[in-house]
Amino acid sequence: MWCDGSVTPLPPTTTLTELATQLALGAGELIRTHRHDHFAIDTKSTPTDVVTEVDRTVEAYIRGELARQRPDDAVVGEEADDREGTSGVRWFVDPIDGTVNFVLGLPQYAVSIAAELDGRIVAGCVHNPISGELFHASLGGGAFAGDERLGGPRQVALARAVVGTGFGYDAARRARQVAVVATLLPRIGDIRRIGSAALDLCAVAAGRLDAYFEVGLNPWDWSAGVLIASEAGATVSGLRGRPPSGTMTAVAGPGLAPELFALLEELGADDV
Ligand code: IPD
Repeated sequence: MWCDGSVTPLPPTTTLTELATQLALGAGELIRTHRHDHFAIDTKSTPTDVVTEVDRTVEAYIRGELARQRPDDAVVGEEADDREGTSGVRWFVDPIDGTVNFVLGLPQYAVSIAAELDGRIVAGCVHNPISGELFHASLGGGAFAGDERLGGPRQVALARAVVGTGFGYDAARRARQVAVVATLLPRIGDIRRIGSAALDLCAVAAGRLDAYFEVGLNPWDWSAGVLIASEAGATVSGLRGRPPSGTMTAVAGPGLAPELFALLEELGADDV
């Protein structure tokens, strides 16, 4: 066995955000330890949708700690079956968001952990184990990178806005997504495709991207990052008056959001 998944057991915690943060740091330590190993790589929904042995080991570690510390909570994770709960708390776990970057050795990937309480995301943590950055937020408590409070994106005109996006794993959907981007690109400042939705959302929170949108995300991809972006002051939306979801996750500064979101609606970005 190349990895037994062992990390020092965590102390008891007081808040969901603290627990998300501790788990993300423990997961990051595991990822750093094993990122140069010869790990197995499998595919999931399509040949381009990959999962590694490290993803599975890291998710098992996070699930094990949640079962130990919060046995009554539900858990939804990217690489294993859902666990039912009775407490009203549900965790969304992505052990490595940006698995393709992880496989390639590109340093843009992250552990993403969020907690939902009675249907609202109340805690989130996104940790890039390579840069060491630790983004976290609690509902109503602001968003932070480490100890530094995040102020959200800059004020910028649509024509200068640098917008992050991502593409799904289904080839036909990708073709439609690229058609939207082809029409959008001449009307904005530029496009970025970083490869980790969680880090894209934190980049908006940190003012490194002016906006971000993507269709087809899963809750473990977007839940923590959307809370962090929203707590940093960004406007979050699912377009056409809907809340953000896997159908559409759109985030921008409050000055830019009305015009950008209207343009995305006009282009049918949520109907690909
Ligand atoms: C993926 C990344 C990527 C996004 C995909 C996601 P994964 O997550 O967030 O940036 O474009 O839609 O599935 O598969 O690496 O956990």
